[in-house]
Amino acid sequence: MSIYGKYENALKYAMSSLVKSIEDYDNQHFLQHSHHLYEHLNYRIKSDESMRDKCDRKLLPQTEKSALCDIKDAIGLRVVTRFVDDIFELVKFIETLENCKVVNKKDFVTSPKDNGYRSYHMILAVTVPFYDVLGNNPGTFYAEVQLRTIAMDTWAALEHEMTYKHEVSSRELIQAELKRCADELASCDITMQTIRDLIREG
Ligand code: GTP
Ligand code: MG
Repeated sequence: MSIYGKYENALKYAMSSLVKSIEDYDNQHFLQHSHHLYEHLNYRIKSDESMRDKCDRKLLPQTEKSALCDIKDAIGLRVVTRFVDDIFELVKFIETLENCKVVNKKDFVTSPKDNGYRSYHMILAVTVPFYDVLGNNPGTFYAEVQLRTIAMDTWAALEHEMTYKHEVSSRELIQAELKRCADELASCDITMQTIRDLIREG
């Protein structure tokens, strides 16, 4: 039995309903405007092993409650857009979802992290017609949604690789170069947004 115990199906249900809401909204947007709001959307339930590791890191016991209540990214969605504006459009939409409450958001797009990381993070409390670990029905399950442009996503992948690689020569130089690259990509994102707006205005 995984750390999610008997709540695994409810957790999957919460993830699917969130994914479907975003996909439906994008399809509707495409019918109205002839372009999609995102380039791709990935989602996953954090693996049993990663969740147990995270409990250990956070000094929490390896229990269903730790995994489903104290830690709020058992469900993870990543929405990768072509343009910066599309991130904010999707954030606005997610905020209107009836079965979701935004419990936390971090706008690393407007205020990037010191290392150059950019992304918009939301923690959502998703209501589902099942019991949760606290005994409530309808129950609440948490999801982390990360929204970023293709450029931000490419950067984050490279930075992640670098962070988790133990033997890296000239780490400081690479970090400085990565930061410079993040700022250049952000500048390109703004330019591409401007070009897109000019084209759309006709
Ligand atoms: P957790 O301990 O993971 O819950 O982190 P947190 O509560 O500080 O959340 P935060 O919103 O800062 O980060 C959540 C997730 O965003 C991480 O698990 C990564 O997937 C991603 N992330 C945050 N910062 C960075 C970064 O500097 N580089 C990269 N590549 N990813 C990051
Ligand atoms: Mg996290």
